[in-house]
Amino acid sequence: EKGGYEHYMRKEIHEQPSALRQTLSSRLDVDRGEVDLDLDFPQGYLESLEEIQFVACGTSYYASQYTAQLLEEFADVRATVTIASEYEFEGGRDPWRTLVVAVTQSGETADTLGAIRRAAGAGARTLAVTNTLGSTVTRETNDTLFIRAGPEIGVAATKTFASQVATLALLTVAIGRGRGALSTADARDVLEDLRALPGAVQQVLDEEEQVLAAAREYQDSDAFFFVGRRFGYPVALEGALKLKEISYDHAEGFAAGELKHGPLALVSDQTPVLAVLTTGADGDETRNNLTEAQTRRAPAIGVVTAGIRTKSLDWALEVPAVGVFEPLVANVYFQMFAYHIANLKERSIDKPRNLAKSVTVE
Ligand code: M6R
Repeated sequence: EKGGYEHYMRKEIHEQPSALRQTLSSRLDVDRGEVDLDLDFPQGYLESLEEIQFVACGTSYYASQYTAQLLEEFADVRATVTIASEYEFEGGRDPWRTLVVAVTQSGETADTLGAIRRAAGAGARTLAVTNTLGSTVTRETNDTLFIRAGPEIGVAATKTFASQVATLALLTVAIGRGRGALSTADARDVLEDLRALPGAVQQVLDEEEQVLAAAREYQDSDAFFFVGRRFGYPVALEGALKLKEISYDHAEGFAAGELKHGPLALVSDQTPVLAVLTTGADGDETRNNLTEAQTRRAPAIGVVTAGIRTKSLDWALEVPAVGVFEPLVANVYFQMFAYHIANLKERSIDKPRNLAKSVTVE
């Protein structure tokens, strides 16, 4: 049932192109710059919307952070992201003009359900974005959007992260169009990049040998740091979460600009730094921050846009050009890196110690 793979996680990493195709299937009309998500917001609702609040945990929280930036850029709407266990519906907001979106793969995460109940209690409209038909969250929200990634068995979320961001990118286009904030031409550009996403992810998966070689080289490191800006920032956080979750190694993600404000003190020749240097991640500025780490002898692994010349990296991993989705594709390298480090250490990859696939306690 693992389809010839040793672990579900690796199978699910490799399923991403087909999962993404399924996520996008019959939902986008690239020529017209429109999407069809089968969501019925009340008349005038999107135009009057003042804020979109995301509530989520773990990997779903990082997918939400990615999306909040998409919404600000393409839908001209304020978007905030709160860790579900920290969420309160705060005063000064009009519940009718606030959409609260619960992003949860399982649809059963107690912290996220608690947050959505507080939002609904305050009178806000709620939307669930989930992978699981019939899950609790779908029964407690006004609307549901399915990410259609297919079942995910490994505790580490992989294909669901990619499908969450892709689904939420479609939602961004729908909201941007609905608010009159996104032109047909700009919507077409975003949708073209989205349509190219499954193929781009496949090209990265085909580079797995390279990732395995890098994992072999660095498996005994003291710690691993991940850095990025803009769309690369949530991906850095997600890369670190994945590595610590399954390898039990110390890994941390930082906003690249923050390295010099403290974390640089931890950097040595035993701490590889993995950086998102692509389009959508302010690659040039991040490259400068990476150099600061290299000056302290840190090995540098950079994910770069294919064809862009990047000097003096220890490893340059290439992603095809897909605009603001390049950091999402970069994440596939980070998933494979985490997997191979953990596999070389013979960890219990699909069921890491102390963790559960869905966390049903607060
Ligand atoms: O089912 P959910 O998306 O609500 O789960 C949220 C987190 O528990 C989950 O993403 C967790 O962080 C993953 N195991 C990370 O790989």
